[in-house]
Amino acid sequence: MTPLTNYRDMPPLARARAFCDAFGLRLPILMAPMAGASPASLAIAVATAGGLGGCGALMMAPDAIRAWAGEVRARTNGAFQINLWIPDPAPERDPAHEARLREFLGEWGPAVPPQIADIPILDFAAQCEAVLEAGPATVSSIMGVYPPQVVRRLKDLDIRWLATVTTVAEAREAVAAGADVIVAQGMEAGGHRGSFEPDRPDTALIGLFALLPAVVDAVGQRVPVVAAGGIGDARGIAAAFILGASAVQIGTALLRTPEAGIAQPWADALAEAQPEDTAPTRAFSGRLGRAIATAYVKAASAPEAPKPAPFPVQGALSWLMRDAALKAGDIDRMQAWAGQSARLATTEPAADLLRRLWSEAQEVLGK
Ligand SMILES: Cc1cc2nc3c(=O)[nH]c(=O)nc-3n(C[C@H](O)[C@H](O)[C@H](O)COP(=O)(O)O)c2cc1C
Repeated sequence: MTPLTNYRDMPPLARARAFCDAFGLRLPILMAPMAGASPASLAIAVATAGGLGGCGALMMAPDAIRAWAGEVRARTNGAFQINLWIPDPAPERDPAHEARLREFLGEWGPAVPPQIADIPILDFAAQCEAVLEAGPATVSSIMGVYPPQVVRRLKDLDIRWLATVTTVAEAREAVAAGADVIVAQGMEAGGHRGSFEPDRPDTALIGLFALLPAVVDAVGQRVPVVAAGGIGDARGIAAAFILGASAVQIGTALLRTPEAGIAQPWADALAEAQPEDTAPTRAFSGRLGRAIATAYVKAASAPEAPKPAPFPVQGALSWLMRDAALKAGDIDRMQAWAGQSARLATTEPAADLLRRLWSEAQEVLGK
């Protein structure tokens, strides 16, 4: 496969065209892979408009990954990617602290049984096999880099690898490991922050305006850089291209589209949220992620609250509360991931939204 080079020195719209040509797209907008919120219907709409559909496969067993890819292929000729989390080292368990957390969470939802965090997480190697077998043209990663044996298989199969990074050092590491594209994720981004080190994101919360040009300067002559985090309208897209992006990745701004199908209280809260109404929190999963600053998020970050357990223990401990909140339609306890530009999310059909955004962005960029 021809290497993707020399993007850095191209003018913005030429960069966009080169990226689209390389990935078989008609517009340079990627749907963010969103674990739990990237249904096939949304990827189909995005791919049909000419963008790149995405699947956040973190919580999907191999059968579900195969079924998702099969459904998208059956309903569009467009392009899509599948995304996996690179696993963190096994967390250290602290039974006494977990007991305090269970008590705290029991005040917000059903009583939390002691064994709930002992359930094993999905097998990463089996997920990788399912992704390789599904054979998308593109895969992506977050929280680290794929192991060398997986990278070799990706290269053999001509599958391109988009690596999410949150610092310049991570961008260099990902390119050295064989990444074909870097997704620079600013701290404005909704959902989990893709820091390679589980404990680092709190001290390296870098905004996209600083991160994107720095990553482009560091690796942009070798690979294209995709901008992610807080992009929700034509101004944001144009700004990302001015700062050196070859494409943009959008998550939160797609969540209110009919194809996303998220819970109504979450969709409504996105529409209302000003940037300061979101907050980075570990209180849902143990990994840092940006969500609506709900009553639970605020209470869990209060000094007297027990510190969240590491990923994935906190996720298991908070599961009953999150599930109860969804069933009750209660935003105060819901896991309502949201980027800082949530208020820009609209309820247009996803394909119309993407076409409008790119058409307006081209006007801003002086087509
Ligand atoms: C609900 C939700 C779930 C997410 N899950 C994932 C995921 O599984 N893998 C991943 O690489 N990124 C995930 N992200 C982060 C996105 O890929 C992307 O970086 C982010 O949405 C961009 O910021 P924005 O939401 O402001 O557009 C998620 C984001 C959201 C909003």
